[in-house]
Amino acid sequence: MITSTRPRKGGKNIESQKIKNMKSIFLSIVAIMLLSNYSNAQTKKSDKEMKVLVTYFSATGTTKAVAEKLSKIMNADIYEIKPDVPYTSADLDWHDKESRSTIEMQDKNSRPAIADKNAKIEHYDIIYIGFPIWWHLAPTIINTFLESYDFSGKTIILFATSGSSGFGKTVENLKGSCSPKTIIKEGKVFSARSTEADIETWAKSMND
Ligand SMILES: Cc1cc2nc3c(=O)[nH]c(=O)nc-3n(C[C@H](O)[C@H](O)[C@H](O)COP(=O)(O)O)c2cc1C
Repeated sequence: MITSTRPRKGGKNIESQKIKNMKSIFLSIVAIMLLSNYSNAQTKKSDKEMKVLVTYFSATGTTKAVAEKLSKIMNADIYEIKPDVPYTSADLDWHDKESRSTIEMQDKNSRPAIADKNAKIEHYDIIYIGFPIWWHLAPTIINTFLESYDFSGKTIILFATSGSSGFGKTVENLKGSCSPKTIIKEGKVFSARSTEADIETWAKSMND
């Protein structure tokens, strides 16, 4: 019996149909990729469209003064993080082992209550958070503040005032209080002598 090894007539058509299908799948993938890049470019906000909020906690007014200058320079809204129970000067005595601030700063789980939850974080893209350095860290009321709102997708820029210390392990300590989808940038520690020009130079460098 003779058997033919020649491909049947229909075989060629099937092959070319397969190639056509693969081509159109490939072209569809390329088109989807191009479209998604385009829509990302459309939704990404320019620096000018980013909404900025300056927030701060200040026990004796030094950080408040920096925050007010910063919000003026940035033309940004400002929000004060107020403790539910204000700190007295006895509370702030770091020489006293029994003072409120010493006790709070020794307990990583302390979360001093905040007076209100009106910061409207959802309206902003970049949130500056300012505070005095206490025991080389942010006061634990900043952890309370971070845990009181949803900061995912937001950029937080820290600033502080101190006698002389830097941020130390501040960022590390605050990270656990917000979503992993939050970007936390260490900004700058100012002193009581910092001028408006110092703040402006720094604020501009953070925008670059
Ligand atoms: C409880 C407490 C702890 C402090 N710990 C530090 C510190 O570790 N390093 C430092 O340089 N200054 C420290 N300071 C000084 C403050 O950081 C500084 O005076 C700050 O500018 C006060 O800001 P405010 O007026 O906004 O509260 C501490 C002050 C207090 C009340």
